[in-house]
Amino acid sequence: MPFPENFTPELVVESPGRINLIGEHTDYNLGYVLPTAIEKKITFKFIRNNSDKECNLFSLGYNTGFTLQLDKIARSNVEWENYILGVLNEILLRTDKLRGFDCTIESKLPMGSGLSSSAALECGLAFGLNELFDLGLSKMDIVQLSQKAEHTFVGTQCGIMDQFASVMSEKGHVILLDCKTLEHQQIPINIDPYKMIMLNTKVSHNLASSEYNTRKRECEEGVAIISVQHNEVRSLRDVTPTVLQEYKEEMDTTLFKRCSFIVSENDRVLKTAKALKDNDLKLFGALLYEAHDGISKLYEVSCPESDFLVDFSKQYDAVLGARQTGGGFGGCTLNIVHKDKVNDFVEAATKAYKAAFNIELEAFEVKPSAGTYIKNEL
Ligand code: GLA
Repeated sequence: MPFPENFTPELVVESPGRINLIGEHTDYNLGYVLPTAIEKKITFKFIRNNSDKECNLFSLGYNTGFTLQLDKIARSNVEWENYILGVLNEILLRTDKLRGFDCTIESKLPMGSGLSSSAALECGLAFGLNELFDLGLSKMDIVQLSQKAEHTFVGTQCGIMDQFASVMSEKGHVILLDCKTLEHQQIPINIDPYKMIMLNTKVSHNLASSEYNTRKRECEEGVAIISVQHNEVRSLRDVTPTVLQEYKEEMDTTLFKRCSFIVSENDRVLKTAKALKDNDLKLFGALLYEAHDGISKLYEVSCPESDFLVDFSKQYDAVLGARQTGGGFGGCTLNIVHKDKVNDFVEAATKAYKAAFNIELEAFEVKPSAGTYIKNEL
């Protein structure tokens, strides 16, 4: 579908990716997470097209688009279209005010790199349509309907972290989010003289692939076993390390490893939030290394490339900590690196990574940034 050349948008929305400092796979276990939006984002340009039902969407990155009718929304065989269709479906379940529109989408967020391009796509679309048609959705509605869209149309049974971070983040802060109550605190973060450096393994994961949903099921199986005797336990969030120990013999080894990771990871999120408030950056770094160890050995969602980079970073005093961030099986590692040594570290890591895997590493700095916003108002 060629996109009209004389496209003059009436609304421009920027929708960011996110990093999660710590608290991986804890969101769907109703635990804690510590994410923030980053400067890399997706830009949406919208215009109402005066039709009742016809919508035209065009991805500038893929140089391809599609047309859909609002009264005929159904899943597509093209993966990225399902993020759009899922969001439209959820909006239509909540309001009858949506009408035809045209939209271009331009992404500066690498897909499948653990920076949550999916949530940025879902939330940016919902946020823009809410403005364009005055749908009356709250930010929280946008977060929740976007998460739902991913469950129903994409097929990943994701938690709420990514959508929450993409919409709710504030510049210079990380969000301590309790995924059970959705209570959250914006924690100011200043890690000077250190910087947050992402190393992109370029190994792309596919969360819709069965592993993510398998982990979720394993956690639910763990809860089912524990709650027989401990009926106050509704999720792994409610399980203490002492209670979990009672099941060491009884539980299948894999299930026990999964549960151990989640129980300890929840605790690490709270410790990290405190370390950041106390400006204890050494402890912050140590917790990241500890988390990666669990991601790799207990939850088993790492990969040789991420493990290599995290291990490599341990040789450097200038690196306080590192871990793979995001859903897993590749994507980026987050590294806390002294600002004077960033270039040396990146150069050495790039060389070593190339020698080990023959892949060109990509490195970039991230800064805690604002959630979804309307560009023309800024
Ligand atoms: C993906 C999901 C999130 C979360 C992370 C792992 O990004 O979308 O809900 O579970 O993986 O922490």
